[in-house]
Amino acid sequence: MYQFDKGIGRRGTNCVKWDAPFVGSDVTPMWIADMDFEIAPAITENLMKIAGQGAFGYQFLSDKYYEAVISWMKRRHGLVVKREEIFYVPNVVLGMSFAVQAVSEPGDEIIIMTPVYGPFFKVVNDNGRILSESPMKNDSGYYTMDLEDLESRITVKTKAVILCNPHNPSGRVWRKEELKAFADVCMKHGLYIISDDIHSELISEGYEHIFISSLSKEIKKKCVICTSPSKGFNLAGIHVANCFIFDEALQEKYAEISEKSHAAENNAFAEAALLGAYNDSEEWLKELNQYINGNLDYFVDYIQKEIPSLTVRKPEGTYLVWVDFRKTGVLPEELHEYLLKECRLAVNDGTFFGKPGSGYARFNLACPRAYVMGALGQLKEKFT
Ligand SMILES: Cc1ncc(COP(=O)(O)O)c(C=O)c1O
Repeated sequence: MYQFDKGIGRRGTNCVKWDAPFVGSDVTPMWIADMDFEIAPAITENLMKIAGQGAFGYQFLSDKYYEAVISWMKRRHGLVVKREEIFYVPNVVLGMSFAVQAVSEPGDEIIIMTPVYGPFFKVVNDNGRILSESPMKNDSGYYTMDLEDLESRITVKTKAVILCNPHNPSGRVWRKEELKAFADVCMKHGLYIISDDIHSELISEGYEHIFISSLSKEIKKKCVICTSPSKGFNLAGIHVANCFIFDEALQEKYAEISEKSHAAENNAFAEAALLGAYNDSEEWLKELNQYINGNLDYFVDYIQKEIPSLTVRKPEGTYLVWVDFRKTGVLPEELHEYLLKECRLAVNDGTFFGKPGSGYARFNLACPRAYVMGALGQLKEKFT
């Protein structure tokens, strides 16, 4: 049994979550998506070995790296990936940015479905593409894609849609029928699908992660799948991610863009971390998911019973909870500051995820249960 209740002291370690200037010493940080748990021991052991080498010159990724990715994806997700289909990138957002460049030209349109993780807006805008937003349907916190709206936004200039699976911030784990219906629209209009599957290791019991590329050969050819062990195993600071591309012409284009960026070199610790995660930490991940599930249940049950002014729904995946504060009377534009100053909680403001996020906040529950309990006490004090 791993000790997730114990947590790990991160203040004073240049940790963005705990040491960002706006996070005061009496504030509990529940914002940026990383975890306050010690990582799996097998990963630490591998990293210690590399640290012990005492030399940190240029290093390539060996066959073992690619074998570990291939084996994990097959074992855990039933996804078949070949060596030549795997593209290392330091982080998923960079991988998505390369994908945007590979499937479109400046001035082309790319659709995202909002609310969604803030950098989705940026990878489109910062590459000189035109952003088109399709708001999702929100039925009391249960989000679904609005495919009619999505299709109505497609023009001759539209080249791709970016999908978030599982969806951040709602925590929806897209079902096969939903993915199929979405992919059908994309295929009908010849669109590429850039799918961000970074949260795919964090799935609540009773749900299954499906990679959209697994639906058919036709869909697979139009996909760029972005993955990483970073969310599931808490390795964001190591910088290790992989994009899967199945079409040969797209692979060539992607490789060219990646090379020209001079930004996609691996660091000396990337392989050791990924091997520790994918080859030797599946039991740890299983227990992690159980612990997170407990946190999610506790948080959601408590709010539903004790704080009726807040609306919340248990996510199907991720460790993130999307909380609706619109009935509380706090002005949406003051919500973030109010939670920080009055409740001493640092969360992500809903508007980070686009306009439909106004009046919402996203809570990160990848932390010891005691923090969750403390945060709920602080919320109850101010909102009942
Ligand atoms: C959906 C999603 N994609 C990408 C990222 C960032 O990934 P990376 O740090 O690998 O760029 C996050 C981080 O929270 C995320 O939630």
